[in-house]
Amino acid sequence: MASNKKIVLAYSGGLDTSVAIRWLQKQYDAEIVTLTIDLGANADLEESRSRALEIGAIRADVVDLREEFITEYVWPALQAGALYEGVYPLATALGRPLIAKHLIRIAQEEGAFAIAHGCTGKGNDQVRFDVSAAALAPDLKVLAPAREWGMGRDEEIEYAKREDIPLKLASPSAYSTDENLWGRSVEAGSLEDPWFEPPEDAYVWTSSIKNAPEQQEYIEIEFDKGVPIGLNGKPVAPLLLVQTIHDLASRHGIGRIDHIENRLVGIKSREIYEAPAATVLNLAQKSLESMVLTKDQARFKERMASEYADLVYNGLWFSAHRIDLDAYVRSTQQFVSGTVRLRLLKGSVDVVGRKSELALYQHELATYDTGDTFDHKSSEGFINIYGLPTRTQARIQGKGIER
Ligand code: ARG
Repeated sequence: MASNKKIVLAYSGGLDTSVAIRWLQKQYDAEIVTLTIDLGANADLEESRSRALEIGAIRADVVDLREEFITEYVWPALQAGALYEGVYPLATALGRPLIAKHLIRIAQEEGAFAIAHGCTGKGNDQVRFDVSAAALAPDLKVLAPAREWGMGRDEEIEYAKREDIPLKLASPSAYSTDENLWGRSVEAGSLEDPWFEPPEDAYVWTSSIKNAPEQQEYIEIEFDKGVPIGLNGKPVAPLLLVQTIHDLASRHGIGRIDHIENRLVGIKSREIYEAPAATVLNLAQKSLESMVLTKDQARFKERMASEYADLVYNGLWFSAHRIDLDAYVRSTQQFVSGTVRLRLLKGSVDVVGRKSELALYQHELATYDTGDTFDHKSSEGFINIYGLPTRTQARIQGKGIER
């Protein structure tokens, strides 16, 4: 039964996308295939699958993409040091291209003419879907029913009643949220007043400073080529590593971010993020870089990080520019191996130690004590930097690349 009227919808199981199944069916006289993706938000996925089928989807896939999300999207962004406007670890923005990619995969399997998502017309996420699809499958249409139908929450509930759509209504949230294992985004409601301190109920993962333990906790994170691979002396697989750091950092109230953000659609908005694991890992990775990158590498990489963050934010993951930037990042990361020691306490995380076999830091050169081997005369003419007996310079001369 090869219908050429199929639509593949990204389905969360919530109100908007449940209504969208029926609405798209009717509006486009199409068959609906749903895709529910596990990126680490704790929704009930099996329940979503049966609800989708009950509402009328002809196929309802549920896929766990947590591992792919971490290794193919989160790690490259971490290695790049990508923080949008210096603060936002891009959890939502990194998830969108991956979701788009799998919607497109199923659309191609099914011969669908369109993919669809539940984003509204005001945010960045709609653009990320559009742009990803334009890059990967320019012939597919991208439908955004919530952008077209103009229904508010009450009207959606009315529509669902009229259409006999089974719903599991969460009590209406005061905020608009999105979450995955790399972070939680919270906006709207009372947060729209930038002067207003975010109420505790905006935060779901992280302890308040008041409730965080009095006792500090130390952790050690081991990196290999800019990617975290171990915790407290033991190797840990990516997903478990992110989850464990998430739990530790959440308990200590780490990773709350309050930001006035420049959206790509041209407005400023007040965004609250909870990103406990991302906050700890970004800090640790950067601190290890300070041990192993030359000054020039570190300076240039900083500029590159903001370029990378803008690109991810703007939905340009599937672009030649990202591939080029990744090549640069990969080259810098070959030295970023070692261990970082951090202290977690009452909402803060601080680096208290770092070590690496590949460090350019040399105690004999840095020390003010006896044993100093730094040639103090070299300060007389810093034009002579190539003569400095540092391993940094050995690399410049092309000898030290593998150190
Ligand atoms: N401002 C963030 C971004 O554009 C988060 C958007 C999340 N969406 C939401 N419904 N809260 O990446």
